[in-house]
Amino acid sequence: MSDLMLKLRNLKVVFPAQEGIIKAVEGIDLDIGKGECVALVGESGCGKSVTSLAIMKLLNSPPALVKVDEINLDGEELKNHSDAKMQELRGKTLSMIFQDAMTALNPVMTIGRQIDEIYIRHNNYSKREARKLTIKALDLVGVPEAKSRANSFPHQLSGGMRQRVLIAMAFACMPKLIIADEPTTALDVTIQAQVLNVLSDMQKKHHVSLLLITHDLSVVANMADTIYVMYSGKIVETASKRELFTSPKHPYTEGLLGSVPRLSDSHHHFVQIPDAVPHPMFKPGGCYFHPRCSYCTEECKLKMPPLVKTADGSEYRCFHPLNLKGGHKDAK
Ligand SMILES: Nc1ncnc2c1ncn2[C@@H]1O[C@H](COP(=O)(O)OP(=O)(O)OP(=O)(O)O)[C@@H](O)[C@H]1O
Ligand SMILES: [Mg+2]
Repeated sequence: MSDLMLKLRNLKVVFPAQEGIIKAVEGIDLDIGKGECVALVGESGCGKSVTSLAIMKLLNSPPALVKVDEINLDGEELKNHSDAKMQELRGKTLSMIFQDAMTALNPVMTIGRQIDEIYIRHNNYSKREARKLTIKALDLVGVPEAKSRANSFPHQLSGGMRQRVLIAMAFACMPKLIIADEPTTALDVTIQAQVLNVLSDMQKKHHVSLLLITHDLSVVANMADTIYVMYSGKIVETASKRELFTSPKHPYTEGLLGSVPRLSDSHHHFVQIPDAVPHPMFKPGGCYFHPRCSYCTEECKLKMPPLVKTADGSEYRCFHPLNLKGGHKDAK
């Protein structure tokens, strides 16, 4: 049996519009091992959410046109599954934690009932049994006085507590894979850290595979095993967390790291990547990152660099990789 929980191959998503075609995702591959936490990182608009929605088969078509060779979840190919079949899998085998708990939760139902329903629907528990499990689940994610809090409505809880409720819901049926799309972006920094700790503890305790989506590399520093860096619809670097933080190969990754504060570096200057992600309808020729890259040469303007694999299994898409054995390239 394979150690892979998710094997995604050659995912392409476009949105046809009147003015042209938006290429949101351009042929990406993604592997998530069993019990592994994989982070998908990149700036706003680079295709992270579209990728996660495509895995869950939640993209509306039209407008989205999705092409994919494989969406293999623990040996089961999801590519041709019907909506009904996918609905059965969602919440049971595959679940998602969204950024905005207020829209993910039903405002007129107590949080206890919303979690009870997951246990009842997927595992045929009685109401009484379900409530016992709900209280245990709320307790596990650190909701204090879980028994009475279960009777609260979403608006009666703080943002951090609501996010904990979403985590409890995502784990309720012990899915094989959880996708968390910017699960803490809407929270204050201190609360963010607490909620991420809960998510990380739950993931490790239950050995669930987790795809963590964020635009902020500092969020994944303590959690992810493997990091995929996405830029303008393409994967530009894949590496273990350690490798990526200590020796990034792609200038874009280096730029993202430049904006992560490090405790060890008291004189840290924030490095910013100039300009912005190209409009998805007007991507530049060659490497999509070249207009923002300080290492850019003529070659980069003409050709899209291929994804190159290193001996240690990391991958990069760049003609002028950094931190390879044999020295560090200098900026122009
Ligand atoms: N329904 C849609 N119709 C047209 N274009 C879309 C649609 N959904 C997404 N896009 C486009 O696809 C591209 C990728 O969007 P996506 O939401 O995946 O970005 P993201 O990486 O999740 O960004 P963020 O960090 O802001 O959440 C964007 O250019 C976006 O405008
Ligand atoms: Mg998004």
